[in-house]
Amino acid sequence: MCAIDRSRSDPVASANSHGPRSMSVSGRQVPLIIAIGLALTSHGWAQLPLPTTLGDFHVPGTQVGDVSPTVMQSPSDCRNCHGNFDAQNDPYATWKGSLMSHAGRDPLFYAQMSLANQDAQNVGYYCLRCHVPQSIVTGHANQADGSTLNAHDRRGVDCHFCHSMVDPIYTPGVSPPEDAAILAALTDVPQFFGNAMFVLDPSATRRGPRPDPSAPHEFIESPFHRRGAFCGTCHDVGNVAVTRQPDGSYAYNTIGAPSPTSDPWMQYPLERTYTEWKLSAFNQGGVDMGGRFGGTIGPVIHTCQDCHMPAAAAKSCFFGPTHGDMRRHDFAGASAQVLDLVLEVFGGDPEVDAASIGVARAKAVSMLERAASIDLAQDCRRLRVRTINETGHKLPTGHIEGRRVWVNVRFFDAQNALLRENGGYDMAEAELDERTTVVYEMFVGLSEAAAAATGLPAGFSTHMALADTIWKDNRIPPRGFTNAAFEAGGAPVVGHNYADGQYWDDSFFAAPHRAARADVTIYYQNTPRSYIEHLRDANHSDDWGDILHAAWVATGRGAPIAMVSGTLMLSTGLPGDMNCDCTVNNFDIDPFVMALVYPESYAEAFPHCDILAADVDGDGLVTNFDIDPFVQLLLNP
Ligand code: HEC
Ligand code: HEC
Ligand code: HEC
Ligand code: HEC
Ligand code: HEC
Repeated sequence: MCAIDRSRSDPVASANSHGPRSMSVSGRQVPLIIAIGLALTSHGWAQLPLPTTLGDFHVPGTQVGDVSPTVMQSPSDCRNCHGNFDAQNDPYATWKGSLMSHAGRDPLFYAQMSLANQDAQNVGYYCLRCHVPQSIVTGHANQADGSTLNAHDRRGVDCHFCHSMVDPIYTPGVSPPEDAAILAALTDVPQFFGNAMFVLDPSATRRGPRPDPSAPHEFIESPFHRRGAFCGTCHDVGNVAVTRQPDGSYAYNTIGAPSPTSDPWMQYPLERTYTEWKLSAFNQGGVDMGGRFGGTIGPVIHTCQDCHMPAAAAKSCFFGPTHGDMRRHDFAGASAQVLDLVLEVFGGDPEVDAASIGVARAKAVSMLERAASIDLAQDCRRLRVRTINETGHKLPTGHIEGRRVWVNVRFFDAQNALLRENGGYDMAEAELDERTTVVYEMFVGLSEAAAAATGLPAGFSTHMALADTIWKDNRIPPRGFTNAAFEAGGAPVVGHNYADGQYWDDSFFAAPHRAARADVTIYYQNTPRSYIEHLRDANHSDDWGDILHAAWVATGRGAPIAMVSGTLMLSTGLPGDMNCDCTVNNFDIDPFVMALVYPESYAEAFPHCDILAADVDGDGLVTNFDIDPFVQLLLNP
């Protein structure tokens, strides 16, 4: 199944893959010292990085150096007219605090890219295409480790980049006629949206959504800018060096050869936000979200822009007209914690503006607070927590590593004393008690073939750039979900069950003895301790892991953010239901007798049940007077 060119691998590789096999053939006992040696090499990085080339990460579209740096203006040029007049709404102020403006500064990104380059040579070039796209198109970043980036590159995904993007799929009568020549000049025209297959207008003529703005600069109307596919160009990420096989599994491509397909659905999924949205009800006619998102455009939501660029009655240029539906450039997602890291590491950079980051951080928290709702119910002595996904994609979505959402439950007695906590988070240790709750997240893994090719163990893996297996994905699907469509789109559910159409998940918690109330909170976190420590400890090539870790410690170690909370008053059990299975029947006779005669043994044998269930006559005591009414209950239920 593995198509990696094995002739390139060193002798250690052969030892790893053939050693254990020959051992079992001979059937003899392996001397301990050899076994230890094998274990060490098979867990080391003797074969890494894989000798992948730039060609392995080639994608269609605009290529390195295709756009002259002199035609690309900086955001501060746009600011003269599109900024500095309305901090809540104008394009510059809102973009300035967003993560897209800091994509070229994000220390989490650089720490992760260092590890990716340790795993697969030249993969950093691919990362930079989305994260620092100006450096690619202007031909400036010629190092896959980002070491040649300059201050302009660090402006991340900026105004002029987005406003030069061309729809790669030409539709006569819809696409601007200018696009035909731009596409014809490309060697390789993208056929899909995703994987950084962007096309830029090399003259950098500005494109935007309105038919006829009163702009004092050249301008082309672009319907593309109103579509989810525009965002999908970068918000669908696959490993283009790992391809889906006819049996549904994934395998490495032959090293040195470009991907046999540019269809993102055929490549190993690392982010499927656009696909998740594309297959959701939002893209099939829209969804009335009751005003939760969207600002002045009203309650029915279709595109990414509707939620992430909410409309306001405002101007986009200080001397232009007020539009009833001017698109704010909030791009608020979930990454409040990453904005803190950016400010911590790059606070001294004159282009980093703490005030606009503060506004953006508050908008990210507000986004998280609108991302889920909960519904609580009691089913006998069980608490049922329904977590409902209110977003346009999976919850959580985006980059797979680190991000997680979990259910926290605290049970209290009638005197308000805490009886038990599920999914507790220890702030001192920065550790989540995962065993006692449900955690929505995606994990990647390595198949046997990938393990053999890399010398790493098969199974769960932290090596994103080498992954070829989805180890877990129980993230909550969006409205309109179906299993078949999401499987076809490379965004399947793994290790959980969601029925077609289900955009919520139910989790159950046994209520402890005497619990009178349950307080429930859904939490989000994207920089958990294990992730950040891994990015530090596995780094043997530069200091980004240490920089990231120090910033993480200095900013509160990625403390979880509360998304939504609720409380349910619990009713105690049924009289006579001694084994608390929510029915009164013959199975309650033994425990009833036990409760009457040996109350302590009862408490031991039924720790989650309430002995007061034996108080069938309701006088507040468990006595012989309860026997008759108990028998009556059994006979006449
Ligand atoms: C000298 C002032 C000025 C500068 C500088 C300027 N713009 Fe504009 N721009 C305008 C005005 C005025 C409009 C029309 C606004 C309207 O009609 O609402 C406009 C319109 C636009 C639109 C069209 C919006 C739509 O309605 O479709 C886009 C996109 C745009 N500008 C992008 C940019 C970018 C990117 C930069 C920097 C590279 C920039 N502009 C620099 C004044 C300016
Ligand atoms: C990630 C891509 C992206 C970036 C970065 C970006 N824009 Fe935009 N911009 C868009 C899209 C998409 C729209 C249209 C949204 C819609 O109408 O659905 C838009 C709309 C606009 C408009 C018209 C707003 C309106 O509704 O009248 C202006 C003006 C504009 N952008 C200027 C800017 C400036 C200035 C910057 C930098 C400070 C910038 N943009 C950064 C994608 C981007
Ligand atoms: C119905 C509203 C809605 C629509 C439509 C929507 N989103 Fe979101 N999005 C949200 C909310 C709420 C969050 C915060 C919760 C989360 O992280 O999932 C979010 C989070 C995100 C994040 C951050 C993920 C993370 O964990 O860091 C990204 C990136 C994103 N959306 C991109 C998109 C793109 C791209 C589209 C269209 C293809 C889109 N969204 C469509 C509401 C929406
Ligand atoms: C040129 C590539 C590119 C395009 C086009 C693009 N994005 Fe992004 N976007 C990024 C990158 C890269 C990041 C992450 C930066 C980081 O965290 O380091 C990002 C981050 C975001 C976030 C913040 C995620 C978080 O975790 O909080 C949101 C929301 C978002 N984008 C929405 C959109 C929407 C909506 C569109 C379309 C209008 C869009 N993006 C178009 C590359 C792009
Ligand atoms: C096709 C575009 C694309 C490519 C290629 C890409 N990314 Fe991203 N990446 C994104 C987008 C869009 C986001 C924002 C979504 C989110 O925040 O969840 C993101 C988010 C991230 C984040 C989380 C940042 C945060 O602020 O939380 C990390 C880390 C990251 N990417 C690392 C990498 C590395 C390393 C590579 C190369 C191996 C890479 N990415 C390649 C588009 C891309």
